[in-house]
This record gives sequence, structure tokens and C-alpha cells, in this order.
Amino acid sequence: MNDEPTTAFVAGLEDVVAVQTRLSDVDGEAGELTIAGFRVEELARQASFEETVYLLWHDVLPNEERLVGLRKALDIQRPLPRITLDLLRAAASERVPVMDALRMAAGTTSLSTPGEGIAEDDNHGEALALVARFPTIVAAYWRLFNGKEPIEPDPELGHAANYLYMLSGQKPANEFVRALETYLNTVVDHGMNASTFVARVIVSTRSDVVSAVVGAVGALKGPLHGGAPGPALDVVFEIGSANWAEPILREKLERGERLMGFGHRVYKVRDPRADVLSTAAERLYETDGDTALYGLSREVEETALKLLAEYKPGRNLQTNVEFYTALLLHGLGLPTDLFTPTFAIGRVAGWTAHCFEQRALDRLIRPQSEYAGVKGRHWTPPEER
Ligand code: ACO
Repeated sequence: MNDEPTTAFVAGLEDVVAVQTRLSDVDGEAGELTIAGFRVEELARQASFEETVYLLWHDVLPNEERLVGLRKALDIQRPLPRITLDLLRAAASERVPVMDALRMAAGTTSLSTPGEGIAEDDNHGEALALVARFPTIVAAYWRLFNGKEPIEPDPELGHAANYLYMLSGQKPANEFVRALETYLNTVVDHGMNASTFVARVIVSTRSDVVSAVVGAVGALKGPLHGGAPGPALDVVFEIGSANWAEPILREKLERGERLMGFGHRVYKVRDPRADVLSTAAERLYETDGDTALYGLSREVEETALKLLAEYKPGRNLQTNVEFYTALLLHGLGLPTDLFTPTFAIGRVAGWTAHCFEQRALDRLIRPQSEYAGVKGRHWTPPEER
């Protein structure tokens, strides 16, 4: 095989089109996100998460019968097998970070055979188990980590409601469930982001969906991808009051730090997901009657944008999804340690859908590299080095 590169090296594969997909379309210039044909603004605030999962997997919205079928299949898969719980207990006693516990526990999905409700030959089985169990894993782990016993899922509750219920033991109010579904739908898929690319590369070798998702969780964990919302909220808390926004952010930029929650590889205008989540957060905070944190966040955002334009002129650094993710998830009562795991609970549906798409394409993803090392070396024995 000819290993001569046919195109020039592009660091970070920026602007390289590696995949064709029907799952989502990110228009970075217009600031538009389309998910399976729907504008994110329309889909995210109306669909249940189960409807979005069905849409991604089957490219059509489910009728009532199919939706009931999917809900039932998820219900069956939601409880954790013994081996997963044992692993989570051991991880909690070692104080393993939540994303690492999720990555390890996700791998145990391979150990459980397709359960009731999944035909042996149904290739959605692994995906179903992964999507169903992510909230159970995160909630069970968080409770164990905090010295509490896990709570069994409630078959009367939907996917998003179950997550909140398994965390707190309280059945959540409808506004909370709606806000969480809006969030999960908003982040469900986003073009060829790093974790999705990882998943597709793994499946392209004809490996399995569980391996792909485990790899994707590892990619999502990094602060340049899914790890930003916690630090973004920390900055808002550090600022505390609007008049501190400018001196504190300016100092960070002077030190060469990046402002978390701003900038994006693809969006050169405001990330449309930031608007969807900002509206959802505003609604949630109004329900609670305390809009102070929401107001402060808007002021911090405004100041950050002004300073980014000053310090990084021409870079078009705008608010990304993580800034309002932090505010929304905080409003739902989630601690910052659960922000990235909650992102994974939404994105796992996108990863699995990409796995199906890649599997259907059945084409190994294998780019080339450009050698940049020394040439013409000759071997010397250890005593001569
Ligand atoms: N704060 C300050 N400066 C920034 C920021 C930021 N948030 N983002 C980019 N810059 C600067 C860089 O320092 C660089 O400046 P320089 O050329 O003077 O050195 C310039 O803008 C271009 O930066 P790149 O790293 O080339 O941009 P890239 O496309 O690789 O970065 C990224 C995208 C990683 C998201 C970046 O904007 C960043 O680090 N943001 C903060 C972390 C964050 O919010 N991550 C979540 C992303 S959304 C998601 O993954 C779901």
C-alpha cells in the first residue's frame, strides 16, 4: 500500500471532513445546529430524551407504540448487574473520579447477556444497555462515593426523571425533568467532536459498541472537550459579584489562562446550544424564585466576551455550550463533579448512533502520518551510547 500522504498535514484535523452523517449538522459560521433534521431550538425543548434516542437510531420520530416499546426496553436494562455495582463499590473506596468510574463501569456492559426485551440478534442491545445504564451508574456511584447506598430505578419514571430520582431519592418536579431533558437533547450529538470521532474509529475496525463508548468516555473527560463546565461555574462563584468580573477575568487573561466556557473549534459565532440552555436555565431559576446567580452569569458572560475581544482580537471567541450547562445543571441541584458525567449521559446516545452509522459504512478509518523524526540512524550497542 502506498503510504505517501495525498493531502497536507493539518494539526488537529481542523476543517478536515472525515465522515458523512445524517445525525447532526454543525454550521459554525451561521451558529446553527441541526439534529437529525430538526433545529436544536425546536427539538431540545419539546422532545423527551427517549424520543431523541429513537430519532437518532431510526431517523424518524417514534409513534406512541414504538415509544412505549423503547421506554420498556430501557426500563429493563436500567438496573445494574451485580458485577457493575461491585466495581463501583471498589472504585468509591479508592475515591476514583466519577468519569473514571463511569468509564470502568461502562466496560462491564459487555459482561451482561442481552436481557429480557432484547432479541439475541438485535444489534441495538449493547447500545440500549449503555444508554439505559449510564444514569444508573453515575447516580449509584455518586451515592457510594458519598457513603450512601444506591437507589434502584423506578419503572414508573422516564429516563431523565429516573436519573434525578436515583441521585436524591426524591421524585423530581416536572420543571426539573423538562430542564434536564432539554439539556440531554441539546448535547446528544454534535458533528465530529473528539469523543464521537474516537467511537467511530473504534467501530470502524469492526470492534464492538461497548469498546467504542468506553473510548469515547475517555475522550470526553478532557478539559478541552467535556470537562469545562465545572471550571466555568467555579469562575462565576469566584467572581461572586458583578463588579469583580472585570478585574478577575482580566487577571486570568493576563496570566495567559483560558476562560472556560468560551471559544470553540467550529463555532465562530455564539454556540446555538448556549442560547437553548440559557433560556432553559432562566426558566428553571425563575421557578425557584432565585435569579441572582443567573443574572450574575449573564454579566460574567458579557464581561468575558468584551475582554476576549480585547485580548484575542480577530479570534471570534464566543460563549460555548459549557457556560450555560454549568448554570443549568447547578440549578438542577447537581454538584460540579457530575457535570461531565451528565454530559456523557446525553452524548452516549449520539455515540451509539454514530457506531451504527459507521458499522453500516464498514470502512476502516485509517489516516496517514507525516514522519517528522530523524532519519538514517545506525544502531549502537548499549556500552557505546
Ligand atoms: N480563553 C482565552 N483564550 C482562548 C480561549 C479561551 N477560552 N479559547 C481560545 N483562546 C485563544 C488561544 O489561546 C489562542 O490564542 P493565541 O493564538 O494568541 O495563542 C486562540 O484563542 C486560538 O485558540 P486555539 O487553541 O487554536 O483554538 P481551538 O480551536 O483549538 O480551541 C477550544 C477550541 C479548545 C474549545 C478553546 O477555545 C478552549 O480551550 N476553550 C476553553 C475550554 C472550553 O470551554 N472547552 C469546552 C469546549 S465545548 C465542548 O467541547 C463541548
